[in-house]
Amino acid sequence: MSDRWYSEAVVYCLDIDTFADSDGDGVGDFQGLIGRLDYLARLGVTCIWLNPIHPSPNEDDGYDATDFYNVDPRLGTLGDFAELLHQASNRGIRVIIDLVVNHTSNKHPWFISARSSPDSPYRDWYIWSEHEPADRHQGMVFPGEQHETWTYDRTAKAWYYHRFYKFQPDLNIENPKVRAEVKKITSFWLQLGVSGFRMDAVPFIIERTEPGNPDSPKDFDFLTDLRQHVQWRRGDAVLLAEANVEPDQLPVFFGDGSGSGNRIHMLFDFMLNGRLMLALAREDPEVIIEALRDTPKLPTGGQWATFLRNHDEIDLSRLTADQRNDVLAKFGPKKNMQLYGRGIRRRLAPMLGNDRRHIELAYSLQFSLRGTPVLRYGEEIGMGEDLALEGRDAIRTPMQWSYQENAGFSTAEPEKLIRPVIDKGEYGYQHVNVTAQRRDPRSLLGWFERMIRTLREAPETGSGSTSHIDVPMPPGVLAHRADGPTGTMVFLHNLGTEDVEVDLSILADEAELPIDVLSDRNYPDVGKLDRLKLAGYGYRWIRLRLGHER
Ligand code: GLC
Repeated sequence: MSDRWYSEAVVYCLDIDTFADSDGDGVGDFQGLIGRLDYLARLGVTCIWLNPIHPSPNEDDGYDATDFYNVDPRLGTLGDFAELLHQASNRGIRVIIDLVVNHTSNKHPWFISARSSPDSPYRDWYIWSEHEPADRHQGMVFPGEQHETWTYDRTAKAWYYHRFYKFQPDLNIENPKVRAEVKKITSFWLQLGVSGFRMDAVPFIIERTEPGNPDSPKDFDFLTDLRQHVQWRRGDAVLLAEANVEPDQLPVFFGDGSGSGNRIHMLFDFMLNGRLMLALAREDPEVIIEALRDTPKLPTGGQWATFLRNHDEIDLSRLTADQRNDVLAKFGPKKNMQLYGRGIRRRLAPMLGNDRRHIELAYSLQFSLRGTPVLRYGEEIGMGEDLALEGRDAIRTPMQWSYQENAGFSTAEPEKLIRPVIDKGEYGYQHVNVTAQRRDPRSLLGWFERMIRTLREAPETGSGSTSHIDVPMPPGVLAHRADGPTGTMVFLHNLGTEDVEVDLSILADEAELPIDVLSDRNYPDVGKLDRLKLAGYGYRWIRLRLGHER
């Protein structure tokens, strides 16, 4: 069997600065994470994705780097980072880092030099226009907070392009020197031992920006080139990309159409993310069934990465207005829960009213669908958000470890914390924390541990092929299956609240001693698969048969 580790991975995403603070300065650090690796190993995580770790003025939470070859001193030293890689590897955990090369911070020495003079060797590392571009007010990613994509720089006496905030000038990827530098950055971190990169903003990286053309052409060859480079440097390195584009545009990000994926290995499934939210809101799996049917076929080696929550808002922009309104009405009804006119800045537990059955259902669904699951820190204990914080910071509060002051995140004075911990109400650390849940096998954390372990015993879920089981179902119920050399798994999810009975006798011929391996409660034996009970918000993972190959 091909050893594509990423197809069977469980990815855990965290920001070092809000995870665990080892030195009491109020900011999380590498040593803090090292101290928590056993927690992640126990949870069953096989790969950690670190949000940006580079020096940065942190105007966009590190997505604005000033040095790609170093780590933010607040987090520790490069030595600490290397130690983290070693300690993670001792526990069988890989580490990937964010590669944010669409832009730099405007305080990056390259940009400071570039704007200082037309003769700077770095001038052409960025994108300039002598005249005010006609599309200056188009293509903003953060509407409401960002008003233009071209800003006039008085020192440079020219306009520079920035797809994101104006303190994030876009690098000019058309410049061969920039390309070489990006490759060098990947080489550096691969050499240190990372297993790959979460590539930020890929559709924008490859844009051949032309002033006045809001629809600039894209240079996909760069992705082919980068993939080659990365793969030669480290054979099992992976590229996991953020490319939130229309589904028909996705295949070219995976490969050039020659059959095997020769560009990005894994793409976040943004389309599925919005549809999962819609299906949960409407208690109707129809849109997931459509997604399973319609998603473009992936080239060999291509893989989806699924998620319910990440570090950004839930982006509902690819749903229709009606669909979006249904999700907002259910999960983000108040103005202050919404962001950029398209999204929700909340964590999942509060969106689902802290209903344990509903939370389990949602995560069971995500983890059992095709692709590699990505889990955001704190979701495994059901953390909430702090809507008093600005924008996306609402969902970036410190990890809640214990009953101790500052949720056990840090020993600093509370006012020194990078962000306040949630210490009030239902989601306050006094109620929601790791220590409490670790002692209680019935806790959400205990459930996540069991669920992830079960998933890892069913590798066909990630690396096999997934399809909808198209037989009549009670309303609200989704039946899907995963097939691979390791066997077949069947999954039932009831998105509605009514108890139902499901008939899957059509599968009886294929079954070899079918058994429930994970479910929301103890159900009667699966029997002949013709009278499968399923409670409201219930789910059943049934191993239909074991394959002969591992
Ligand atoms: C991506 C990141 C987001 C960041 C932006 C600019 O969308 O996910 O957090 O603000 O890129 O780098």
